[in-house]
Amino acid sequence: MSTEQNQTVVVLDFGGQYKELIARRVRECKVHSQILAGNTPLDKLKAIAPIGIILTGGPHSVYAADSPHTVKELFEMGIPILGICYGMQLMAYTLGGEVKPCAVSEYGTVSATYEDTNCALFKGLERDTVTLMSHTDYVARLPEGFRRIAHTSDCPTAAMCDESRKLYAVQFHPEVERTKQGTQLINNFLYNVCGAKGDYNIDDVIEKQIKAIRAQVGAHQVVLGLSGGVDSSVCAAILEKAIPGQLTCIFVDHGMMRKNEGDEIERAFEGKSLNFVRVDAEKRFLDKLAGVTEPERKRKIIGEEFVRVFEEESSKFAGSFLAQGTIYPDVVESGLTTGAVIKSHHNVGGLPKDTKFIGLVEPLRYLFKDEVRALGRRLGLDETLVSRQPFPGPGLAVRCIGEITKEKLDILRDADFIYREELSKAGLKYDQFFAVLTNMRTVGVMGDGRTYNYVVGLRAVITSDFMTCEYAHIPYETLDVISSRIVNEVKGVSRVVYDITGKPPATIEWE
Ligand code: XMP
Repeated sequence: MSTEQNQTVVVLDFGGQYKELIARRVRECKVHSQILAGNTPLDKLKAIAPIGIILTGGPHSVYAADSPHTVKELFEMGIPILGICYGMQLMAYTLGGEVKPCAVSEYGTVSATYEDTNCALFKGLERDTVTLMSHTDYVARLPEGFRRIAHTSDCPTAAMCDESRKLYAVQFHPEVERTKQGTQLINNFLYNVCGAKGDYNIDDVIEKQIKAIRAQVGAHQVVLGLSGGVDSSVCAAILEKAIPGQLTCIFVDHGMMRKNEGDEIERAFEGKSLNFVRVDAEKRFLDKLAGVTEPERKRKIIGEEFVRVFEEESSKFAGSFLAQGTIYPDVVESGLTTGAVIKSHHNVGGLPKDTKFIGLVEPLRYLFKDEVRALGRRLGLDETLVSRQPFPGPGLAVRCIGEITKEKLDILRDADFIYREELSKAGLKYDQFFAVLTNMRTVGVMGDGRTYNYVVGLRAVITSDFMTCEYAHIPYETLDVISSRIVNEVKGVSRVVYDITGKPPATIEWE
């Protein structure tokens, strides 16, 4: 994506788990950000000409042999720099200060005092505040030219600055919500120190992206695999706007979508100037899955079959571009910007070998999820698509425990539909919520008769990163209604249970 007119802040990654959060916060402050490896050569940085640089935290100690380091010249380029946590220690160490192990390590929210609320970084912030700390080392002696601007009861140097060189550093994490006024602090760095103009906004992104797509694609056709998820839907919407009439969206319906979902996806794209192809592959997938009970095998079969169906369908479009809804976290986590692989994403890393496509179009490659949603809204996509909760690629296959049959999937679809409908009626929204059809049948009694039917599990979780979660405390009254509706309206269910496990030790999905 062309962002040459946008001012940019570079986030240099030293292994911190919050690098993406820092980059997102910068963008929330209307400044474009880019994540690069901590050892990015200075020439490359100079070529980008960032208005500021932020050094992330990291799990290391500056004195450890394998810890990532930087060079003094980084701080001599005249570019404002904010060091965070390890980034502060690295700044101090590189410029001749001293870093030592803390007498008392600080983890979690800690009361802090901003000593100088007139300095550019703390302007307008409360003097007595709360910060999120997570460190075992601290800056014991400041480098020459620096002064201390914050402390906590256990950390004498919670922040430091050398205003003449526009170098600032904080031991705490301003990017996380648990640091009070943290975003305001980042905003201060951007506007009071870096001279940001605030020229980054989503309308601008749309305009630039449309130009870039047109320039790349010319008069060629583009094929996109559409799943109905947020990323592929928004990708379709922007492509349609950029190259109306040149886009074909292939929706592989594997028969394991939720109730009415396939039709809803079809309806959402109906009437747009794109060619929507729905491939009804339910039977193919169910045949392949017959008798399979092991979760990982199910996933593998579905993944492989999916690629096969998509290849067959898209083979009619040789000589076209392939579009993908890759987003920035996929790129960052695959190590393409920083060199550190967290997990490989199947959709990152270029076109497959032996491809019949002539190139790859990835209009969302530089956007975070919340930006993708904002873009979708701006492009007029239906809110149900834009704010859709995550849905696993293998669909209901991983929520239908044991062997998968059409009959079991239909029971699950009906129970899940009631569950979602009742939560919506009650005005309850959680980060992810769904029903599971267990493979267990239990005895029940209905009317005067004995029943022997399936147990449905309900799951609702609260999470922001989906790496950990807490179970949601759904009010009992709502659970009552859901349970009685499922047992009465869904044939084949005799019992409903609610999952009260967090992650860890459980996972969000049951398989
Ligand atoms: P777990 O169950 O690992 O899930 O706690 C974390 C998040 O990932 C989603 N998930 C998947 N998404 N393909 C996907 O696209 C998959 O195979 C898959 N498995 C889990 C899950 O829904 C949750 O949001």
